[in-house]
Amino acid sequence: MRPRVLKVDPLRVDPEILRQASEVIHNRGLVAFPTETVYGLGANALDVKAVSGIFEAKKRPLDDPLIVHIERREDLYALAKEVPPEAEKLADRFWPGPLTLVLKKSDKVPDLVTTGLDTVALRMPSNAVAKKLIETAGVPIAAPSANLFGRPSPTTARHVIDDLDGRIDMVLDGGSTDIGIESTVVEFIEGRTIVLRPGGTDVEKLRLVVGRVEVAGEAERIKSSPGTYPQHYSPEADIVLVADGPSQVNETIEVASDLASRGRKVGIMAREEHAGSFDGFDVKVLGPGADGKVCASRLFHILREFDADEVGVIVAEGIPEKGLGLAVMNRLRKASGPDTV
Ligand code: TXA
Ligand code: MG
Repeated sequence: MRPRVLKVDPLRVDPEILRQASEVIHNRGLVAFPTETVYGLGANALDVKAVSGIFEAKKRPLDDPLIVHIERREDLYALAKEVPPEAEKLADRFWPGPLTLVLKKSDKVPDLVTTGLDTVALRMPSNAVAKKLIETAGVPIAAPSANLFGRPSPTTARHVIDDLDGRIDMVLDGGSTDIGIESTVVEFIEGRTIVLRPGGTDVEKLRLVVGRVEVAGEAERIKSSPGTYPQHYSPEADIVLVADGPSQVNETIEVASDLASRGRKVGIMAREEHAGSFDGFDVKVLGPGADGKVCASRLFHILREFDADEVGVIVAEGIPEKGLGLAVMNRLRKASGPDTV
């Protein structure tokens, strides 16, 4: 089945479109919709049959739990059994927005949504289309990123269709997403606040609200998010990541030349300030290295563009892990596996 693709103006969302999308949700169907981070693939979170359709359409393994999207604060208390004070504070400050809170689940949440875990991931998005879809449907909406499992997350309706044509019912096309990288996922364990996945909400800003915040996978090996598989967010092309540093331009040229001399079709994902240094290569500009926000907004789009060019290997320049740069580097490392130079 071809998905119905409906254009929506986020500034003036047509109620008739919302009514049709809501009907799909109530018929246990799948609706892809824009959020402020990336496009989500939504189904009624309280209906196991609907939720199982998400796993099928994405070819997502059954041990990778879903985020439940809500529109009213009351639903936080209906779907979570306990809400620690740190979670309350973060929700007060960052909802609606790109922050997901992992909390002890209530019995209302089907086990399939959480893939059997006793916690549920909850998020209140700020995108107007997402908000109004949840409001009109009147149910919480389970939604992972609307890509095939393992592929870069979609930041446009086109990306969704490229991955999921024939597998879902409807796409609400609200244009490019603002942030371009997924939400920050936070869990609370015995009084500790732990970032399981860096994302659209800057970790430094979380610290301003709750004080100490740990990042999983840093200094000490804290548990990291289930379903954060090593080869994630990957384009078809291989990725070699060149670490940020004083000799980054030279190293990038060396690595790219070496790969090219071995017959590989090479693309360079460059920092804006270095973009003029790679004559003769297929260069795409991620953004100024110091501007994590711009880099985040372009990352997934560029990875997909390299695939469209049939590039075999992307040599990616790393950026400083400040602000959203932390999330950008997290995704690049996952996409590159162990190949950091
Ligand atoms: O910005 C976003 O978060 C987007 C938009 C659509 O909201 N959604 C998204 O969903 O990125 P997904 O499924 O691609 O990523 C969900 C992440 C996974 O890393 C998963 O492991 C984690 O959230 N997660 C979900 N439930 C969890 C739980 N109970 N405990 C720990 N991690 C959980
Ligand atoms: Mg995803």
